Amino acid sequence: MSTYVTAVLPTDQPPLMHQAVDEAVRLLKEGEVVALPTETVYGLAANALDAAAVAKIFEAKERPSFDPLIVHLASKDQIDLVADVPPEISATLKKMVERFWPGPLTILLPKKPIVPDLVTAGLPTVAVRVSSNPIFRRVITGLGKPLAAPSANRFGSISPTSASAVQAELDGRIHLIVDAGACMFGLESTIIKIEPGTPKMFIDIVRPGPITPEDLKAYGKVRQATRTVVDEATAAPGQLASHYAPKTPLRLLERPEDFIPEEGKRYALMSYRGEEKDGYLNLCDWEEVMMLSPGNGKLPEAAVRFFYVLRALDKLGVDEIIAEPLHEHGMGIAMMDKLRRASRRV
Ligand code: TXA
Ligand code: MG
Repeated sequence: MSTYVTAVLPTDQPPLMHQAVDEAVRLLKEGEVVALPTETVYGLAANALDAAAVAKIFEAKERPSFDPLIVHLASKDQIDLVADVPPEISATLKKMVERFWPGPLTILLPKKPIVPDLVTAGLPTVAVRVSSNPIFRRVITGLGKPLAAPSANRFGSISPTSASAVQAELDGRIHLIVDAGACMFGLESTIIKIEPGTPKMFIDIVRPGPITPEDLKAYGKVRQATRTVVDEATAAPGQLASHYAPKTPLRLLERPEDFIPEEGKRYALMSYRGEEKDGYLNLCDWEEVMMLSPGNGKLPEAAVRFFYVLRALDKLGVDEIIAEPLHEHGMGIAMMDKLRRASRRV
């Protein structure tokens, strides 16, 4: 593992923003990796067409090479650069990218040979998306190449939604973090695959995220990926059951009455909206209670705070984090999916 002095460059004033973007483009052109904001979570980016640069992503993250990366494009017109679109799905794909790009939707497509096998972990498909974050867009346009970028955390850890969270994960492992504040969505992009079908296409959700089944159903018959570990491993190799887990054991407590606190153990509560009527606040003498959506139970607010709260609770050093269930619709689907995966590790 190489060690670096990691610079964190702000973007909250135009001259600083230009400096940060220029520095990111310079490093990327030299084949280095750079942490960049996107509208979902921070990504660790490298030139997707340069296998040596992409290898540095795997090194910094300690990511196993069987886990493929998402390729980010500067615009929807660049799909043909990296993917061969099957004629049967091209009309549907076109409509979907018109509607959702730039934005938090990633689409699996047959890959072109120009994409290094390291990027796709040897799979015949490549995952593509166009980010809507203005800083990310400036960098990718400045570089003039697609960017491979996984979430900027160490493998198996919690995705970062701020520059300081990236720093906590990757300090000393990369040259640069571009700081553009908190991410707008806070959850990773929805990943889908479009499968030919009649009379409608099938839209298979490989990873739930900000674009919900409700959003997708106008484009085909939506199928949710099943939750068995075997299917996950083949559908999206990075969707392992242990993913998104804090180091502290976490338990999704679907019903408050199932909780029997153990003598001498310290517990923290990840509360949905901090309301007594939900039945969790008085279950024990919590070491700490953090709310995802204070008061109202607003799912987009909970999503923005989700990884931040998880990271904060993980720092407390309690014996167990207890998570309240959220409404399982909209962005709640993705959060419940992550909580289930995280709590399986216990
Ligand atoms: O919002 C996002 O998608 C963020 C930002 C940075 O763009 N990126 C992100 O990347 O979440 P990552 O690497 O943390 O998660 C990508 C997921 C992994 O679970 C990986 O296995 C899956 O996408 N994936 C990538 N390429 C794939 C492929 N060809 N087939 C199946 N799954 C794929
Ligand atoms: Mg990730």
